[in-house]
Amino acid sequence: MASSSSTPRFSANDVTVIFFLGGPGSGKGTQSANLVRDYGFVHLSAGDLLRAEQVREGSQYGDMIKTYIREGKIVPMEVTVALLSNAMADSLATNPPPAGTKARFLIDGFPRKLDQAVFFEETVCVSELVLFLDCPEDVMESRLLKRGETSGRDDDNAESIRKRFRTFVETSMPVVDDFQKKGKVVAVKATGSVDEVYGLVKAGIEQRGVHPR
Ligand code: ADP
Ligand code: C5P
Ligand code: MG
Repeated sequence: MASSSSTPRFSANDVTVIFFLGGPGSGKGTQSANLVRDYGFVHLSAGDLLRAEQVREGSQYGDMIKTYIREGKIVPMEVTVALLSNAMADSLATNPPPAGTKARFLIDGFPRKLDQAVFFEETVCVSELVLFLDCPEDVMESRLLKRGETSGRDDDNAESIRKRFRTFVETSMPVVDDFQKKGKVVAVKATGSVDEVYGLVKAGIEQRGVHPR
């Protein structure tokens, strides 16, 4: 579990955390693969961790997570933050960064609600930057419906997609706006091709001092 003291479990002097936000289908997972390859990030997708926990034998949260995901609702933050915090610790233990470098974590699809942002930064690690993929709903919808042909995901259907968009607008955009006020957001237009979007992502983060590794 994340520490309950006011000192975060990981110091920002030792690890770099970048939050990767954007609506469902904006391309976070796709661009994460590029960033892992070129910048040495460890990619942690909150959604992937929740789906793994959902099917983990013995998990007490499986049914709850399944319902939340299908309804496009935000899973109670304690569950998600514990999964992320433990995944960071596991990664540092099994795959430490090269000597003299800080581990880089790209945390995809988190925080999606203001309380998650506050709790994570108080108990796990303060973020360095927020990378935000800006994409209109019609583009995201067509990408998700296409993904749904093969993803096997419970929530890549028209009904769940509509609910996820609503949650994104009402609950998750305020997180982006809050980080924007703190000057932490790198926003990228995400409607172009995968390569075009990646070009913008690279330019955006390099302007903030994140360089290939
Ligand atoms: P997210 O993780 O933000 O929900 P994904 O990376 O899974 O989004 O992308 C959603 C779908 O759209 C995937 O099927 C992916 O292959 C596709 N996709 C991602 N980026 C682009 C893009 N720039 N242009 C067209 N399709 C894209
Ligand atoms: O990011 P992804 O699209 O994989 O997330 C799928 C679902 O997982 C979300 O719609 C939501 O139900 C849940 N989730 C969450 N809290 C997060 C990330 C994902 O509840 N921080
Ligand atoms: Mg994703």
